[in-house]
Amino acid sequence: MTQENVLDALKNVTYPGFTKDIVTFGFVKDVLVNGTTVGLTIDITSSADEVKAQLRDEASKELQKLGFTDININVKAPQAPKQMSNSVSGKNIAPHVKNFVMVSSGKGGVGKSTTSVNLAVAMAMQGKKVGLLDADIYGPNIPRMMGVQDQKPEIQGNKVQPLKAYGVEIMSMGSLMEPGQSLIWRGSMIMKAIEQFLRDILWSELDVLVIDMPPGTGDAQLTLAQSVPVTAGITVTTPQEVSLDDSRRSLDMFQKLHIPTAGVIENMSGFICPSCDTESDIFGMGTTAPVALEYDTELIARIPIEPAIRIGGDTGKPVTYFQPDSETAKRYQAAASNLLAFIDKVQAEGGADNQAIQPTTPPGVSACSTGAGAASAPAAEPTNKNHEGCGCN
Ligand SMILES: Nc1ncnc2c1ncn2[C@@H]1O[C@H](COP(=O)(O)OP(=O)(O)OP(=O)(O)O)[C@@H](O)[C@H]1O
Ligand SMILES: [Mg+2]
Repeated sequence: MTQENVLDALKNVTYPGFTKDIVTFGFVKDVLVNGTTVGLTIDITSSADEVKAQLRDEASKELQKLGFTDININVKAPQAPKQMSNSVSGKNIAPHVKNFVMVSSGKGGVGKSTTSVNLAVAMAMQGKKVGLLDADIYGPNIPRMMGVQDQKPEIQGNKVQPLKAYGVEIMSMGSLMEPGQSLIWRGSMIMKAIEQFLRDILWSELDVLVIDMPPGTGDAQLTLAQSVPVTAGITVTTPQEVSLDDSRRSLDMFQKLHIPTAGVIENMSGFICPSCDTESDIFGMGTTAPVALEYDTELIARIPIEPAIRIGGDTGKPVTYFQPDSETAKRYQAAASNLLAFIDKVQAEGGADNQAIQPTTPPGVSACSTGAGAASAPAAEPTNKNHEGCGCN
């Protein structure tokens, strides 16, 4: 038996959540064959134990089929993400969180919060340590959707303990304010709030922090991307053309902010009738995949309109947790697996890096007075027009 035989056999092992196999991904290394003995490394640098176990199992089976009796597979341990320091440039101000997922959309009301909640709950159900940060400072909905709207977080010194529900750590401006109160804040205050949510909340050593963004592409998105290396961006959209136009802006923002794009979730995609279970087309369906392709990414999930999703949001009982056998819960679980595999891939390739979008103005010099952008990313430009992004108001 030869190295080629081994590689051919391992092409039958696909990377969890992807259609590609581990040989095509380039994860198989150092193959040594000696009679019926084989040794090799699978270098996925994954943080997920179950991914490692699954790959080791499947690879062993394939090699046994070839006739090897002595099989040594080394699945390589994860590399630490690249930017794990509180550096002066503020590249990672929450270094104990392994991965950050930004859930974004160009348009309001398309289901970002609903998606964030259900993805976070699904990943926690899959055994991950998950946090959910509501970065929608003006319109915080996460406390209600997670059923913690009546709880107040505990303050410890000058830090705040996150709330917890369904295995997920939670923080939201809504949990720090009185119900019904509004915030009338300038952009610079929003930026401060986002930084504090990352730095001053006592998050555990999380595998993933899911961040529910306000709609659009503005101060909150830019601040987040400059403060921590965002591992994965997800754009939520509904299938109508008008919504897709806005999604392109969201996908373009990920590219400008150097955020690896995990993909697009098409929400309110068809309607599942609660009485007869048939699926009908309301806003259209399947319009999103071509847009995802334009930005070199893919459709991660199609989530139908389902009354149970809205009721789950209103009552603080996420459908993924409370109706795990429903079609929708299965789709959220599949999307979560997909996302975790994407995160592994990003880490395997060296991790996310926000160096290129750090502010370029020297300390003490206002970006407004120099006429320079607050960051080298073109996304900063609209922000500066009203002097909100540079903090000089
Ligand atoms: N697939 C779905 N089926 C039924 N209802 C849904 C679905 N997705 C979202 N909803 C409902 O639609 C409303 C808007 O959703 P959500 O609050 O998640 O949107 P959003 O994008 O976060 O909005 P905003 O931009 O205001 O933050 C909520 O009442 C939610 O329960
Ligand atoms: Mg929302």
